[in-house]
Amino acid sequence: MNILVTGGAGYIGSHTCVALLHAGHAVTVIDNLCNSRAEVLGRVQVLGGRALRFVQGDIRDRDALARAFEGGIDAVIHFAALKAVGESCAQPLRYFDNNIGGTIALMQAMEAAGTQQLVFSSSATVYGQPDRVPVKEDAALRVTNPYGRTKLVMEQLIGDWCAANPQASAVLLRYFNPVGAHPSGLIGEDPRGEPNNLMPYIVQVASGQRPQLRIFGNDYPTVDGTGVRDYLHVVDLADAHVKALDYANAHTGCETLNLGTGKPCSVLELVHAFEQATGQPIPHEIVARRPGDVAEYWADPARANAMLGWTAQRDLAQMCADAWRWWSQGGAGKEQRGAS
Ligand code: NAD
Ligand code: WQD
Repeated sequence: MNILVTGGAGYIGSHTCVALLHAGHAVTVIDNLCNSRAEVLGRVQVLGGRALRFVQGDIRDRDALARAFEGGIDAVIHFAALKAVGESCAQPLRYFDNNIGGTIALMQAMEAAGTQQLVFSSSATVYGQPDRVPVKEDAALRVTNPYGRTKLVMEQLIGDWCAANPQASAVLLRYFNPVGAHPSGLIGEDPRGEPNNLMPYIVQVASGQRPQLRIFGNDYPTVDGTGVRDYLHVVDLADAHVKALDYANAHTGCETLNLGTGKPCSVLELVHAFEQATGQPIPHEIVARRPGDVAEYWADPARANAMLGWTAQRDLAQMCADAWRWWSQGGAGKEQRGAS
């Protein structure tokens, strides 16, 4: 199929492009590079073994979108969004415009082009603090910040669009905590500035770039007092998108699926797994809880398993080893830092 990938130069998008190329799809990427670099796409083509088409542009720019749809697009995978929770609290309108405005422009372009299939990057953040774990797709939705609100609104807009178009098909994928990198060490997560998320922070402590990890609270009602999440290897996540595309191609209507391993992991457990997998010590201290954090959540991935035939294959050791390989042996960040 001809697939348009919005945000395809980003962390999850780049890994998904590799999986799409391997699966034999023709890939067009549209990305404005606001949080990524064009050279990533060169690496994606090396890993995917084939060329892709790149349109540098913003999904809110109708001309750029029209260029991306030139030649015909069978399905869209929509990653392009701003994703920093703290930033979204400070700049909500920017997030509404980019994420929600961008999604509306994209659906309009799809309608104009006659494209009926959409796979969408949603997030477990739409659940807020869930009442029970593991979290199923029918759990209450309680967003707690503007970023999360954009995800929820985008889900609802896509659901309405699907309801109005009997031929349309959408798969809304709620990711839990994506981590890790391609095992080649050529592509991975490359946050700008101080990382917000745990795994990139651990990796930067391991590399000596930051003196120690601050663990945000050890007084949660969890296995060891630290926050518990469901970490998922980004290559498993990429594979789920290829399967979601196949599903969208064979069905109509709108489906929502959790993507996680279904295995809870605390901050301390992840730190120890990283130390074991890489041999790198991670000095850490316990500090106050981070405002807005929830104690624990992890996915019930049974629905994704049943509907897509997808199960996460890679364990914590692989997530840690691959994240470390990306940072220590390759990556745009390394070039940017001037390391050899
Ligand atoms: P990322 O920032 O690495 O990738 C997003 C890409 O979209 C970037 O390349 C950026 O340049 C591009 N982009 C942003 N706005 C754009 C616009 N208006 N027009 C064109 N391109 C634009 O982020 P990621 O981690 O790969 O996340 C991808 C998607 O998955 C996002 O929608 C994010 O909300 C969602 N998600 C991410 C996580 C996570 O922890 N990484 C968890 C749940 C959901
Ligand atoms: C994980 C755990 C922290 C950093 C966020 C977004 C969410 C989603 C993914 C997109 C928590 C602890 C972290 C550190 C720490 N993004 N931690 N020290 O908060 O589950 O989810 O990213 O949709 O919307 O909210 O992920 O990696 O930030 O934190 O102790 O330096 O690690 O308190 O328990 P989170 P995270």
